[in-house]
Amino acid sequence: MHKRLLIPGPTEVKSDVLKQQAKPLIGHRPKEFTELYTGIFDKLQKFHKTKQWVTVPTASGTLFMDMTARSLVKEKALCCVNGAFSKRCADTIKACGKEIEKIEIEWGKAVKPEVILEKLDSGKYDTLTLCHNETSTGVRNPIYEIGKAVKKEHPDIMYVIDSVSAMGGDKVIPEEIQCDLIYASTQKAYALPPGLAIGFVSDAAIKRCEEVPNRGRYTDLKGLYDYYQKKQQTPSTPNVSLLYALSYQLDRMLEETSEGRHKRHEEMAKWTQEWAKKHFEMFPEPGYESITVSTIKNTKGKSVAELNKELAKRNYMISNGYGDLKEKTFRIGHMGDWTTADIKDVCSHIEEIWEL
Ligand SMILES: Cc1ncc(COP(=O)(O)O)c(C=O)c1O
Repeated sequence: MHKRLLIPGPTEVKSDVLKQQAKPLIGHRPKEFTELYTGIFDKLQKFHKTKQWVTVPTASGTLFMDMTARSLVKEKALCCVNGAFSKRCADTIKACGKEIEKIEIEWGKAVKPEVILEKLDSGKYDTLTLCHNETSTGVRNPIYEIGKAVKKEHPDIMYVIDSVSAMGGDKVIPEEIQCDLIYASTQKAYALPPGLAIGFVSDAAIKRCEEVPNRGRYTDLKGLYDYYQKKQQTPSTPNVSLLYALSYQLDRMLEETSEGRHKRHEEMAKWTQEWAKKHFEMFPEPGYESITVSTIKNTKGKSVAELNKELAKRNYMISNGYGDLKEKTFRIGHMGDWTTADIKDVCSHIEEIWEL
């Protein structure tokens, strides 16, 4: 029995989108592939209202953490850590042999521009990393305000953002954010199966790569860029089947418009927050709640594991809290192609099961 996924990724994929993957394969060197890939490039630029170069590697989003370390960090990165995924990014950069310093912020709280500026003023860092939407806590960091403040004082720093669980639903316009790399995975707000990552890259980031030796192969951002400039293709074999699905889904997204998609996510989040406040409390600091995943404090001490067993009988699945937050919080993922009506439905089942 299929459980409809209201977890913070992978999210539900429409059946017509899934079917795109069953198309007969093509090679990745003929003209047909170039047309497919450049078509996706154009649609992504259009949806995100950007002129930045975009790359779609066959990988999950974590690849971009390694790529940040291997291709962008010269010596030392300042990593803002306010949850599990921002910590993963910091740890990955360290594991690649580069120096890091963390700004540790309590889980549930957002990263503010002031704390970053204070640290950056020491001038020791060449890269700044941040998570747009901390999926572990449901906190949405103010990436536009941070970009504005940071780039005014430190224009040369590489501003790198993990938007894995936000981009495609939340508003992401790279030039307005002033970021050098912002990336996502397809299984989240783009509502596709997992297996592709999407990254927007500034010209400055491509220049930075030239100053960073030992970029590897799969993690060589400049390698991807150069190959695209020369052939409008990918240097290694891509997941063509998923690219078909992405191309099709981007047409649907463009039809909805980026504003429409953003508004629908805002509406789902607002409704969920009101519902949560009626029965429980929100976990994130007020004003910084994610619009793609709501993390709710389990103030009534209910069993989230039992809830999910009951929800499964009703063809739904939500998420327990992440790590130490398990059973202390629960998460409703409202990303991708869900609507407020669907969220109301799953919440009415939660009310019945938990007798709220
Ligand atoms: C914010 C964030 N960053 C990174 C990741 C890792 O993404 P992937 O599993 O696509 O590599 C996730 C996955 O949930 C995430 O939510």
